[in-house]
Amino acid sequence: MAKKIVAGNWKMNTLKEDAQKLASEVVNMTKDEVPSDVTLIMCTPFIHLSQVKSLVGSSSNVFVGAQNCYTKTSGAYTGETAAPMLKSYGIDYVILGHSERREYFKESNQELAEKVDIVLANDMLPIFCCGEVLDEREANKQEEIVGSQLEESLFHLSAEDFSKVVIAYEPVWAIGTGKTASSEQAQEMHAFIRGLVEKKYGTEVAAETSILYGGSCKPSNAEELFACPDVDGGLIGGASLKSRDFIDIAKSY
Ligand code: PGA
Repeated sequence: MAKKIVAGNWKMNTLKEDAQKLASEVVNMTKDEVPSDVTLIMCTPFIHLSQVKSLVGSSSNVFVGAQNCYTKTSGAYTGETAAPMLKSYGIDYVILGHSERREYFKESNQELAEKVDIVLANDMLPIFCCGEVLDEREANKQEEIVGSQLEESLFHLSAEDFSKVVIAYEPVWAIGTGKTASSEQAQEMHAFIRGLVEKKYGTEVAAETSILYGGSCKPSNAEELFACPDVDGGLIGGASLKSRDFIDIAKSY
């Protein structure tokens, strides 16, 4: 069975005190309300990672993630953050290939393959985002697009390494727009993704790969989305900035 995961992508939001408050609330509410078989991850801006990591402590089901990292391990790359640095702060997960990174920072599938490698080499787990933009959906090209994102950034991995990857399917037209994919659309794409993984790595790896849905997921629609057989959780943007909403989403299982 794939692990159930609800990951919050804070994006470039929260000041120091907001981050502290939000993270403490999430940790406390998780203890009281969230079943222990659901993994929660807070993916915070780099600058808050160390603070949030200290607040989380050694919780057994709350983890901390970064939203990106660089392709090199150290050196003269002003302004970048390396995977070993994240590891040295006890960070567990790294989001890679979010559509905002692909769009604004021109991250390519090839560059993302390098980032996936460096995250795995540093014993952290990638949350790899894939998804089509609206034009591609309207042209019915979603499978082709997502297929090549997986093929070019992930399918060079060994089965052992691939089994550490979390996939997030995020139709770009649903991100931050309030327009969620219907549960049928989500299920269809998740089943497609699991099928590709199965073809490449076999039934067992495919069954154990967590495939999260992302894009305007909120307490009011999480239950329906998570009820889909191939949806193993969510990558939550806007709603992860409110502890009550984030926890209610996590409780939707
Ligand atoms: P959203 O963002 O939940 O605000 O749509 C999801 C994401 O970008 O990961």
